[in-house]
Amino acid sequence: MHAVSRCFVTRALAGGALDRLAERHETTVWSGDLPPTPEQLRSQLAETDPEALICTVSDRIDAAALDAAPRLRAIANYAVGYDNIDVAAAAERGIAVGNTPDVLTDATADLAFALLLAAARRLPEAIALVRDGGWVTWEPSRDLGAAVHGATLGIVGGGRIGAAVARRAAGFEMTVLTHSRSTETTFEELLERSDFLSLHCPLTDETRHLIDDDALTRMKDTAILINTSRGGVVDQQALARALHERRIAGAALDVTDPEPLPADHPLLQAPRLIVLPHVGSATVTARQAMTELAVENVLAALEGAPMPHAVSP
Ligand code: GLV
Repeated sequence: MHAVSRCFVTRALAGGALDRLAERHETTVWSGDLPPTPEQLRSQLAETDPEALICTVSDRIDAAALDAAPRLRAIANYAVGYDNIDVAAAAERGIAVGNTPDVLTDATADLAFALLLAAARRLPEAIALVRDGGWVTWEPSRDLGAAVHGATLGIVGGGRIGAAVARRAAGFEMTVLTHSRSTETTFEELLERSDFLSLHCPLTDETRHLIDDDALTRMKDTAILINTSRGGVVDQQALARALHERRIAGAALDVTDPEPLPADHPLLQAPRLIVLPHVGSATVTARQAMTELAVENVLAALEGAPMPHAVSP
């Protein structure tokens, strides 16, 4: 007989892996359609007193949340990014933290490319024109977009998702420049040369507001910004200004800060802007595989083994 532990899961997750967890451990899944608020999360943690937690990007796992779960030994984030977790505070308490890398790389890269193409060819305006009955005739020179084939794509971040976007760009015969800690291309060069700039770095103290007024001013006025990483990498006030002043030609964001943006947020009034509701990994295959990885992380940690997909503080 193996020891049975208590696990708390903050949302119902795709696929069958949670059943596998529930067969072995006493598993409570938050039943709300919305994520728990910070207060609800703390009270659920205090009530269920779990040894393992599976959480999503909507859950802020800070010191106060950790203090509500004194027996916690394992946190499996249902995401590759883990800026929602205070990893240092978890490490101080001896809590292992894991994530779900690899299985969402292609889904996220596909979405970055979908945003790139949609922004380049102005699909949202075109769809709205037809739907609203505003399409009168074939137009020789209205609403022209930007060429993707042969253009220069700048990638921020030397990780798996950036590399997967670069592989897609090869099919469009794009020139790909990557800026990361280990590449020679400087950030300034990337900004100045890119027709499309796609962000694929984690959100850290170093990357917060990396795309600020200065960066946006350095970009070409024909350039398009794509963000599928984290909203905090972009200074959204600066982006709103740059779009209004036509200092860049457009932006396509899957992520914002906060999520969702309040309906009256000034960024949402900006022209040539696409905002999606954080759906980078939202394919059936990726989400089911993410559940598998999160469950593997928890099962390993509860057995006293290292998480197969651990993150380091
Ligand atoms: C989603 O945003 C993730 O980090 O997996």
